[in-house]
Amino acid sequence: MVQASAVEIRKVNKFYGPFQALKDIDLSIPPGKVTCLIGPSGSGKSTLLRCINFLEPYESGKILIDGQMIGYDAPGKPMSGRRLRDMRRSIGMVFQQFNLWPHMTAQQNVAEGLIRVRGLRKPDAEERAAEALRKVGMADKMGNHPARLSGGQQQRVAIARAIAMEPRLMLFDEPTSALDPELVGEVLGVMKTLASEGMTMVVVTHEMGFAAHVADQVAFLEGGELVAVDTPSTILHHPRDARIRAFLRTYHERNAF
Ligand SMILES: Nc1ncnc2c1ncn2[C@@H]1O[C@H](COP(=O)(O)OP(=O)(O)OP(=O)(O)O)[C@@H](O)[C@H]1O
Ligand SMILES: [Mg+2]
Repeated sequence: MVQASAVEIRKVNKFYGPFQALKDIDLSIPPGKVTCLIGPSGSGKSTLLRCINFLEPYESGKILIDGQMIGYDAPGKPMSGRRLRDMRRSIGMVFQQFNLWPHMTAQQNVAEGLIRVRGLRKPDAEERAAEALRKVGMADKMGNHPARLSGGQQQRVAIARAIAMEPRLMLFDEPTSALDPELVGEVLGVMKTLASEGMTMVVVTHEMGFAAHVADQVAFLEGGELVAVDTPSTILHHPRDARIRAFLRTYHERNAF
């Protein structure tokens, strides 16, 4: 059997009031692969990512997660909050801001969702939290509160919190852009490990190195349009569209020193 896409985005249009943020987006996210979304500021990357787990509703088109439509039972017929929550359980999300509870240790931060959402007993949740934290290289800091962790460590706790829920799909929105440059590598390293284990990932990133070396496909957005989707090498090294070339030129100018 041919394996279906993990996520099918079909003809999605999204408006904020009169402003159209996404225009007829068609994109397939293959399972077990890494898709990077790149493009200039305001191009609609975060909006598209947030549509995937229906954090943003959209006006037309549909998004299928493992073949199931998310957000609507049928076009124009919103699904119940309960069904939406059920579907979201298989989707992990990591943002630029870590959103950790300041009064909880790293381990408690990871265990919390397992207790509240998954209904695990506290000792089981803590054990699974410890396992997830070991995976992101945080075995020795599990007892620290966020204030006693570096930005890179806090982001790794946020990743552990997401993967502890055993998602089938992980969404990342610029997970390293709030970090000091010397801490970026440790977070990208964890993401690379997840990718090598076959996690389906959609990553909005300004890290062209990550897109070049880890992504299986790169999608370029501009002005709410999906300009091109192709291999990292085609998009980043042999782009056919002038808009992509202009974007990369600006990127290289900014990052040259
Ligand atoms: N809640 C909102 N209300 C109105 N307009 C919005 C809202 N959120 C985003 N927009 C607009 O939609 C467009 C796309 O925004 P989005 O956040 O998706 O861009 P982005 O590609 O993620 O940009 P960045 O790289 O700066 O994060 C922008 O023009 C933005 O101003
Ligand atoms: Mg954004």
